[in-house]
Amino acid sequence: MSEDLFPIPADWAAHARMNQTARAADYRRSLDDGDAYWLEQAQRLDWITPPTRASDSSFDEADFGIQWFADGTLNVSANCLDRHLAERGDVTAILWEPDDPSEAPRSLTYRELHAEVCRFANVLKDAGARRGDRITIYMPMIPEAAMALLACARIGAIHSVVFGGFSPEALAGRITDCDSSIVVTADEGRRGGKRVPLKANVDAALALDHCTSVRRVLVVRATGGAVAMQPGRDSWYDEAMAGVAPDCPAEVMNAEDPLFLLYTSGSTGKPKGVVHSSGGYLLWASLTHALCFDYRPGDVWWCAADVGWVTGHSYIVYGPLANGATTLMYEGLPSWPTPSRIWEVVDRHQVHTLFTAPTVLRALMKEGDHHVAKTSRASLQLLGSVGEPINPEAWRWYHGVAGEGRCPIIDTWWQTETGGAMIAPMPGATDLKPGSATFPMPGVEAQIVDGEGAVQDGASEGNLVIARSWPGQMRTVWNDHERFFQTYFTTFPGKYTTGDGARRDEDGYYWITGRVDDVINVSGHRMGTAEVESALVLHATVAEAAVVGMPHDIKGQGIYAYVTLNVGEEPSEDLRRTLTQWVRSEIGPIATPDVIQFAPGLPKTRSGKIMRRILRKIAEGEVSAQALGDVSTLADPSVVADLVRSRAGVA
Ligand code: WT7
Repeated sequence: MSEDLFPIPADWAAHARMNQTARAADYRRSLDDGDAYWLEQAQRLDWITPPTRASDSSFDEADFGIQWFADGTLNVSANCLDRHLAERGDVTAILWEPDDPSEAPRSLTYRELHAEVCRFANVLKDAGARRGDRITIYMPMIPEAAMALLACARIGAIHSVVFGGFSPEALAGRITDCDSSIVVTADEGRRGGKRVPLKANVDAALALDHCTSVRRVLVVRATGGAVAMQPGRDSWYDEAMAGVAPDCPAEVMNAEDPLFLLYTSGSTGKPKGVVHSSGGYLLWASLTHALCFDYRPGDVWWCAADVGWVTGHSYIVYGPLANGATTLMYEGLPSWPTPSRIWEVVDRHQVHTLFTAPTVLRALMKEGDHHVAKTSRASLQLLGSVGEPINPEAWRWYHGVAGEGRCPIIDTWWQTETGGAMIAPMPGATDLKPGSATFPMPGVEAQIVDGEGAVQDGASEGNLVIARSWPGQMRTVWNDHERFFQTYFTTFPGKYTTGDGARRDEDGYYWITGRVDDVINVSGHRMGTAEVESALVLHATVAEAAVVGMPHDIKGQGIYAYVTLNVGEEPSEDLRRTLTQWVRSEIGPIATPDVIQFAPGLPKTRSGKIMRRILRKIAEGEVSAQALGDVSTLADPSVVADLVRSRAGVA
């Protein structure tokens, strides 16, 4: 059933910039004649020095390196702002919807946004920011967050946005890793009627012994809540803005200069700073926004992500603004104060395209269709999905109930590392199958390989890899180029390993089956199991911890933690609550364990390696000996029976 085909609606087929034949031909050319193709695509951007070279990239160890448009120069903020002024200066660039629906929205034209960004850039310069410096942005979803990104881009500083839901500990780690000298934050954020103490969190982060690089903190007055200001270090943004010149020349940047870094979780170690380039990244964000969503000037575009994630970077800020779009930024939560809110926002701002995550859809579905039915949604023409596999049931609901059967569903598969959509439909060019992200984007040489790296042809299932570079690809891990190479290019030499599994069906459609590594996807956000484990073992009562994903109706995956206590500690409900709270304060609410199972022992091989395969099965509720598979290689097979027995009490 889930393989039903939803054909391209006639109106989309008639007016979209790409039809089925054109998409296929474009894709073929992008691979067969890549250099010419990409130099042509590069003309979407406004270059100071147009590039004469496309890709100088190799995934092989001997000459490993990734470069695009390496002799081109440009400025990203000028591409998102200045170049629109002559023709579209009075068009709305950012529409802002506040958390509280009784408050008035804000809007900024391209001209106004340009002026704000220029001033902001001057404030950053006054605070000592120079080209190449790292600036940490820890902000709520207010227009000033987008301005901060663009102001960094304007002066060639590298921004590192840390999601406002991360704890002071996590923030400090990210500040220290990239040696950030400036933090941009707000007094408080607001989400679902609650306040988030952002400035207090910054203070707590900077008070930690290891967090010593920050000299200046700029604070946007968002709620007016009381905060402590440290003289000499902290300044109010509005006061600083009053004293600076209204214009700021855009720094000439090389295409390969880093635009930003963004920390993301991997299967091992600390989160890594994913580094994105200026030219290739912006081209990828802009091109994929235009192709996947067939964006037309005048359409109101709403990517309902947070600017703290890559989705917000590429599809709230950079892609849409490079394309001269009207981009809606929403401060709050999709279902607050009621489950109708997301659709009310659509109606209020006449949203043409909504781009959100399956976890949001599943939560809304559960609340009942009447919350949707009481809104109009007549403006909606297109619906997007991102962050995790969309289950066919949620797809059908999105398509049938939210979109009333009228709006194609654009399910985009990609990653923080890829910069923008990699496998996705185009509304006028792709017949849809619920649950499939469909086909690769131009230049994306997707392959399915088996465990040994052998390329599988035709209908097949295995590991998803990308066989050549594309412009939006991350360039390195901040300060650790070796880790970049090791993480992504050694499992299947010569190819980029995505960490995802995929199936390709007989029609060539790709179906992402989920991560094949120790990364779990909680509500469309990536969480490294190793990170949660490290947080748990930091607690005085914990001897050892093993974390795996478990199926979760709303979140997609939940966090299941097996915890072995130190000798003398007793399991209790109290301790379970304490440890849950502990993880929240070490990492943030998104890392909250859904289940903690106290385990007297963990299943290990004789060489001491934890057998996660077994832990995953038990977390999924598999208890039969047959499902658990061979346990004879374990040092102590009896721990499995113990775990199965004690599971009943917790999950
Ligand atoms: C991982 C990347 C893409 C930006 C937001 C998340 C999963 C993402 C899809 C999709 C199936 C998806 C993958 C991927 N994922 N989109 N449409 N279908 N899976 O970025 O935090 O870097 O996570 O999210 O497992 O590897 P991220």
